[in-house]
Amino acid sequence: MIYFALLATTAIIFLSFFRKYRTSKNLPLPPGPKGWPLIGNLLDMPSQSEWITYHKWSKELGTDILYLNVAGTRIIVLDTIEAATDLLEKRSVIYSGRTRLIMCNELMGWDFAFGFMNYGETWRHRRRIVSEQFNTVAVQQFYPKLLTATRGLLKDMLQNSNDVIGNLRHLAADTIFSVVYGLDVKMEGRESLEAAKEANHAMLIAGIPGRFLVDYIPLLRFVPEWVPGAKFQKLARGWKEATLKMIEMPFLTSKAKVDDGTAATSVLAHSIAKMQEGANPAIFTHENIKAATGTIFTAGSDTTVSCLASCILALVHNPHVVAKAQKELDGALSVGQLPDFSDEDSLPYITAIVKETLRWRDVAPIAIPHRLDADDVYRGYHLPKGSMVIGNSWAILHDEKIYPDPFKFNPDRFIKDGKFDKSVPDPELSCFGFGRRICPGRHLAYSAVWIAVASLLTVFDIKKVADKDGRIIEPGEEYDSALVCTPLPFPCSITPRSEKWSAIIRGDSD
Ligand code: HEM
Repeated sequence: MIYFALLATTAIIFLSFFRKYRTSKNLPLPPGPKGWPLIGNLLDMPSQSEWITYHKWSKELGTDILYLNVAGTRIIVLDTIEAATDLLEKRSVIYSGRTRLIMCNELMGWDFAFGFMNYGETWRHRRRIVSEQFNTVAVQQFYPKLLTATRGLLKDMLQNSNDVIGNLRHLAADTIFSVVYGLDVKMEGRESLEAAKEANHAMLIAGIPGRFLVDYIPLLRFVPEWVPGAKFQKLARGWKEATLKMIEMPFLTSKAKVDDGTAATSVLAHSIAKMQEGANPAIFTHENIKAATGTIFTAGSDTTVSCLASCILALVHNPHVVAKAQKELDGALSVGQLPDFSDEDSLPYITAIVKETLRWRDVAPIAIPHRLDADDVYRGYHLPKGSMVIGNSWAILHDEKIYPDPFKFNPDRFIKDGKFDKSVPDPELSCFGFGRRICPGRHLAYSAVWIAVASLLTVFDIKKVADKDGRIIEPGEEYDSALVCTPLPFPCSITPRSEKWSAIIRGDSD
């Protein structure tokens, strides 16, 4: 008996030692391109469209977990939905941090934004303020605002169809200003919008870790502005002013309206009401409300513009998709009726166009990188604590095993027997990010894009434009390369399908 006990104890000690060994740092790191001493892969890093290079390296090395070391910053790239789900979703408790973005957070004043904040209590509180108003049911309170903003888009397109991206920016600004602050952007938002334009532009560049060397070499943040090569300090100072103005101004205007009882429904008005009721006093504080509303104000505009601009670009290139969508719309709606959210079930092809756009031109190709908060082991590899973890959404959404012929814009991949085919993996599983950090604005974003696409196709013909000699001008497909990728302005023709529709849009039909 005593021998048996001794044997069992030895076995337990051996097994636990073996387990410890297995989970220890002695395991190999995932494969990655061979780097140089000290600087690692610094010189290999692309300066733009990094998602394409990550995917290329993954293919070349036959791995869907890639490891890079950029001057000491460890980066893990997950190239398939399996790897992203296993780690960012199933182990989200340790994969939900954010990397320290020195340029963006510490020098440019973005430390208010919970999207860039490390996982923890402040992040949870601020996110809670937003998510309780943007879940699938609560978001419907904002449908009337989405409809009003969409009608405004139709008017803008009727009056000036040459400035597609400008019109989409108006739509996004109208929507987000009204949803977040209950304000009318044209009357009360000009100055904040100017500041937001500058601050957001800067954030979309600096939000990609590594775009500024100071993210990899933190000591550089102490280098004064006048030192040659420290141009980033001057940029950061200017951008910080715009950032602070952007969150302060609309908050004060909207709060004043709440105080004098003239505020419209909005995330801010709802949150202030909760603060005044004394609900969850740790969550509903002035500071948290200002920061949470400021975060969604900044996160919600460019993303929607990017998605809609890509959709229009796809429609311009694919007249057969426009024709099929208009046939569906004409069959489902009565004459002269604009679509509403209640028509969604009878418009599966419109839904397929929106899903295909989210897949085809992923708005945020590497989402926002997460951070691993504890050492981990996955598929026999050691994944070190502190690594930046990137879910390569672009690679996932262009995986030919899931979406055959992935670079083709083909809404029909989501249609079977005339119905929306739910068996095809939903691009929303990765285009809105992963795990606990998944985009909290995704239901609002989806609804805003869906109603805009349905409305545009109901009333307008969207096609390529011809030059004065009748030659078709092929629209380019250039995108800017930032955290959010938006097509550069492209030529296209957007004309009302009939005089009757023009009158309806202008509001002078009977
Ligand atoms: C088509 C439009 C949109 C797309 C494709 C999109 C995509 C994303 C992605 C990829 C992330 C990163 C998720 C991660 O870290 O894993 C994200 C985060 C976020 N999004 Fe969106 N988004 C869109 C619209 C919106 C809108 C309309 C809002 C607000 C009204 C919003 C608010 C946010 C916020 C606050 C975060 C940070 C979440 C956190 O870190 O906890 N987004 N979004």
